[in-house]
Order: sequence, then structure tokens, then C-alpha cells
Amino acid sequence: MRRGYFFSLFAFLFARLVLYLRAMKSAKQIQECFESYLQGLNYSRRPDELYAPIRYVLSLGGKRIRPTFLIMAYNMYADDIERVFSTAAGMEIFHNFTLLHDDLMDRADMRRGKATVHKKWNDNTAILSGDGMLVLAYRYLAESSAPELKKVLDLANETFTGIMEGQQYDMEFETRDDVREEEYIEMIRLKTSVLLAACVQMGAMLGGATASDQELLYEFGEKIGLAFQLQDDLLDVYGDPAVFGKKIGGDILCNKKTYLYINAYRLADGKQKSELDRWAVYDGNDPDSKIAGVRSIYDAVGVKALSEKLINSYFDEAMTKLDQVNLPADRKSLLREYAGSLLNRVL
Ligand code: IPE
Ligand code: IPE
Ligand code: MG
Ligand code: MG
Ligand code: MG
Repeated sequence: MRRGYFFSLFAFLFARLVLYLRAMKSAKQIQECFESYLQGLNYSRRPDELYAPIRYVLSLGGKRIRPTFLIMAYNMYADDIERVFSTAAGMEIFHNFTLLHDDLMDRADMRRGKATVHKKWNDNTAILSGDGMLVLAYRYLAESSAPELKKVLDLANETFTGIMEGQQYDMEFETRDDVREEEYIEMIRLKTSVLLAACVQMGAMLGGATASDQELLYEFGEKIGLAFQLQDDLLDVYGDPAVFGKKIGGDILCNKKTYLYINAYRLADGKQKSELDRWAVYDGNDPDSKIAGVRSIYDAVGVKALSEKLINSYFDEAMTKLDQVNLPADRKSLLREYAGSLLNRVL
């Protein structure tokens, strides 16, 4: 009798354990496990001036969107998520490398609520520690599971090449005054979307997804990436720096040709156009007046709502792609919800 009781209790607990292990992990659970993996990695070599900024950046958090996408996509097909942590770390470290160099290019002083590396140390440190992170990224990518290693590296190489191209366009556009909306969209696809898309595809690929599912998930990530960068550009003008973690108005000061700027210029009347032209060449010592001046034209012509509309339409396109992935709806719902949370969409 007693033995029977213990046996059923054991069977019950075992079944619960199997269910727990097989259940898909939420974004929060993934982020907790992945964060402790990432913080457990050790990059303390000499000279410390090279490695301290790397530890600094990686310890500042960030949303960890790229590894979350990668691990979640893997988890839609397989349960043992730890198997892809090194690949996910490679992609996250690569992203952090781009931030070090991007902040130098964009003359940005604040990131994740803290001083950027070139401000806290200096420009050369940001360049060299950034390079160090690029190498570190490849170290972890190279730890990806052997059968898929070549495919991981091929996809990473194509993606990283695209990001450089996007960053180059982004900078060239600062000094051009005829950037078209299509050119802007292609630029953000390269600088931002391809990395998110590659992470989703890579996770699915490592989990054994078919080529057609991988393609759909890449396209899903690409659309989410476009919406995400449009939102980042919006927050650069209208965000709360305490939440955004970056200074507001940086894009306006750099004369970035964002969707907001391009459309504000298109919709502006003659007087507003000449005001925008005047701000474009402003080199006075009151940057806040430039930010406020340009923003007041954005407000007057209503580009915020226009941008929100486009964000929503890219999000909807992403959902359509996800719907087409050949998996039961309940295996896709966590990814859907997570993507929605990034763009403040309640689903
Ligand atoms: C910043 O990316 C660069 C952009 C693509 C806008 P995130 O907003 O994902 O930055 P962290 O990693 O969360 O800080
Ligand atoms: C992000 O562009 C693209 C990359 C970092 C590759 P932004 O320049 O808009 O990113 P933030 O706003 O500095 O994070
Ligand atoms: Mg930039
Ligand atoms: Mg920037
Ligand atoms: Mg930005």
C-alpha cells in the first residue's frame, strides 16, 4: 500500500518534470538562463584596458533581443536550448561590437543609461575593444554545433557584411539632402534587420527547420527589424531617456535621414523647408535649440503618426510570415508575443 503510494507520487513528479523540460521556455526564462551563461564567460586577459570596456558593455544589460530570438526560434523545434547558447552569445557579442563603433560614428555619449565606451575611455579604446569583441563573437560562433557550423558562419558572414553596408549608407546619408524613403528602408534593412532576421533563421536552422520555414522566419525577422528601427528612430526624438537609455535628439544633431526627417521635408511648406535647411547647417553652441526646432516641424506636419502607421504595417506583415510557418499555432505563440512586446503591441 505504502509502496504503491510512493510509486504513484514518483510517477507523478517524473511526469511533471518531463513536461517542464519539454515545455517551451518563455522569453523571460530564456533571458535568465542565457544571461547567467553570458555573465559566466570569462574574458579577463591582459592588458586590462582592452578587456575592461568589453566587460563593461556586456555587463550593462540591454534587451538581449538577438539571442532571445535565436533561442526562441530553436525552441520552436527542439528542447535542449543550452545547445545554442554559444551561437546566441556570438550574435549578441557581435551586436555589442557594432554598438561600440556605432557610438563613435554617431558621436553618442550615452548607451543603456551609462557613458559610452569612447566617452568613459577614449576613441582608440572604443575601436580596439570593439575589434576585440568582433574576435570574441567569432570565438563563440565557432563553438556552434559541428554539423551546422559552416552554415552558421556563412549566414553570419553575409549578415555582418550587410550591417557594414547599412552603416556606410547611414553615414553617407548624413551629408545628402535627396535621400528617398526607399533608400532609407533599404539602409535600415541592412544595418538592423538582417541581424534580427539571421538570428531567427539561425535558431530555426539549428533546431532542424525546413528550408521553407527558415526562409519565412528570416522574412519575419526582417519585417520586425524594419519596425524596430523605425521605432528606435521615433524614440530618438520622442522617447524618455530614462527608459530609452540614450540621449534624445542624437539623430537630429547628426542630420540622420530618418523616415521622420524625409517625410517631414516632403510635407513641409516653403517656410518649414527653409527652416529645416537652416538647421541642417547649424553649427552654433545650442544643440537643444536645433532638436526643439526640428521636432516642432515634425509635430506640425504630423510625421509621428505616419511612422507609427508604418511600424504597425511592418508588424502585421511579420505576423503573416509567422502564420505561414509550418508549425502548430501554440509553438509560435511565444515568438509572436515577444515580437509584439518589442513594439508595444498587445496581441
Ligand atoms: C540598438 O539595438 C541598435 C538598434 C538596432 C536600434 P537595441 O535597442 O537592441 O540595443 P540593446 O542591445 O537593447 O541595448
Ligand atoms: C543602429 O542604428 C545600427 C547599428 C548599431 C548597427 P542606430 O545608430 O540608430 O542605433 P542606436 O540608436 O545608436 O542604438
Ligand atoms: Mg548609427
Ligand atoms: Mg547610433
Ligand atoms: Mg537610433
